[in-house]
Amino acid sequence: MAEFITGMKRTNYCTDLGVSDIGKQVSVNGWVQKTRNLGSLIFVDLRDRSGIVQLVFDSDTHKDLFDAAADLHQEYVIAATGTVRARSAEAVNDRMATGAIEIAVSAMRVLNAAQTPPFHIDDKANVSDALRLRYRYLDLRRPSMSRYLMMRHRIVKEAHDYYDRNGFIEVETPSLCKSTPEGARDYLVPSRVHPGKFYALPQSPQLFKQLLMCAGFDRYMQIAKCYRDEDLRADRQPEFTQIDLEMSFVDADDVMTINEGFIKQLFKNVLGVDVKTPFRRMPYAEAMARFGSDKPDIRFGLELTDISEFAENCSFKVFSDAVASGGAVRLICAPAGHYSRKEIDGLSEFIKTHGGSGMAWIAVSDEGVRSSLGKVLTENEIAEIVRLAGAGSGDLICIVCGKSSGVYTALGGLRCYLGEKLGLIPKDEFAFLWVVDFPQFEYSEEEGRFVAMHHPFTMPRTEDIPKLESGDLANVKADAYDIVLNGYELGGGSIRIHDGNLQKLMFNALGFTEEDASERFGFLLEAFRYGTPPHGGMAYGLDRLVMLMTGSDNIRDVIAFPKVQNASDLMTGAPDFVDDKQLAELSIARTALEKEGAPAQND
Ligand code: AMO
Repeated sequence: MAEFITGMKRTNYCTDLGVSDIGKQVSVNGWVQKTRNLGSLIFVDLRDRSGIVQLVFDSDTHKDLFDAAADLHQEYVIAATGTVRARSAEAVNDRMATGAIEIAVSAMRVLNAAQTPPFHIDDKANVSDALRLRYRYLDLRRPSMSRYLMMRHRIVKEAHDYYDRNGFIEVETPSLCKSTPEGARDYLVPSRVHPGKFYALPQSPQLFKQLLMCAGFDRYMQIAKCYRDEDLRADRQPEFTQIDLEMSFVDADDVMTINEGFIKQLFKNVLGVDVKTPFRRMPYAEAMARFGSDKPDIRFGLELTDISEFAENCSFKVFSDAVASGGAVRLICAPAGHYSRKEIDGLSEFIKTHGGSGMAWIAVSDEGVRSSLGKVLTENEIAEIVRLAGAGSGDLICIVCGKSSGVYTALGGLRCYLGEKLGLIPKDEFAFLWVVDFPQFEYSEEEGRFVAMHHPFTMPRTEDIPKLESGDLANVKADAYDIVLNGYELGGGSIRIHDGNLQKLMFNALGFTEEDASERFGFLLEAFRYGTPPHGGMAYGLDRLVMLMTGSDNIRDVIAFPKVQNASDLMTGAPDFVDDKQLAELSIARTALEKEGAPAQND
């Protein structure tokens, strides 16, 4: 039996100790944060997952221990036993949870020495992301990181408790599956037993949870791992976690209401924040028109104004052509500030990198207006735009024209950028809303056809079902809803199709041949023949939820072992080559490109 710790097992986590423990003999186990040698006294900050407590080694009372403490270095793992005592008045540190006490050490054992770490374990240390992720186990020792993961644990526990109390049953669904279409590429796993065949890792448990409704479970939930091979961003990882749920015999209101209850309880219990319910419900079309986004951050204004009607007949051909060809001209009016030419050019560049072809602008001041449109619009026309924008002295009007969706993307992005830059966003607010009345389909330029905006199992609005048949896909609305928080899509879901014929109609509208549909989803269509109840549900992105609740701005912070931009793990080196024998077993041959060691693709 290992005896390293005999006699010195932890009695308390470091920050459990306080003035009420003065006089008690305690043992603490942890890592050396730092040491200070004052000649006859050595102070050691000892850290465990709870935080830090100060140990004191006194050469007058324990010479041996003092000498041993002189050899301690950062990140040594030690056990210490001693008596809790009050610090002298001048040594009290109000910034530390244990700042009023210290432990006078009477026994100490080094459990493991440590090499000097590649960076100091400290929230204030300025360390590159690459180094942090290369040594993630050291990075996770930092107090902020352990706080993030502890909060994640609490959030998951609240989810289990809440849904359990409301009759949801947790059921695990497989990771080796047939492809589930959620709009991203699949991660594939080759089958050894079936040469040439592949499993897909689930993009979500969508079809399994629907089949659980067919099986009669009525209410399902799962903390589910999902895998999507898509471009990574600050709020996206290739493998991420959902709080996934599904309910039978419900309508969209039921799903939204039960989830408002969850959010209310979660924020109260974890953050002590009262969230007002029910949440505001905003139709998709309104969200786009006012905020240029289907996940609007409603903590601030800076809303879009549509001036297409004016632009259609104005003298600037670029504007009038944009409208004539089915596009739009819209603007946002940035509040009074001093916008230098350089800043305005910067905004124009921003627009160009966010889907717009460029930005026209009008700067309003007491002396008159400056504008990029001075040569192409009349004074009256410029005055009309200023009027439509409701602009006052000091304001900057930013105008974008083009295809409607591109204008929304560009101005929606600019709105958030300016909101941040101008300090318009109240940081301690949690602004929830449901975005509803989504279109069922969106047109994919890339594929030259309509694709499902959510997924192909989403129920269209009953009144729009005839449009499915007539091919008027652009005007079919879905019985779908997204939960949005502070400009992030926190989750989404829908009422599902539970009728085989309607599902076939949907597959048909999406361009699947009958053979395709039956080959990929035959098991679902078959299940529909055996009595599937009406059902619906949703899934939260757990990582996003934790990110927003911890106040972090990157989901990497709240995932213990995340991937970087190119989907690799800097610590383990995954993905990696495997040996030829393993490949041969899987009936896979390397391509010439791999053999030459082709560079990683960034998609
Ligand atoms: P959806 O695809 O909208 O719906 O996903 C639900 C939520 O999961 C989160 N999410 C992600 N988080 C991190 N990294 C990613 N790559 C990523 N992709 C998605 C988002 C998103 O809102 N099966 C449906 C749900 C349903 O209809 O019940 C689904 O997966 O927060």
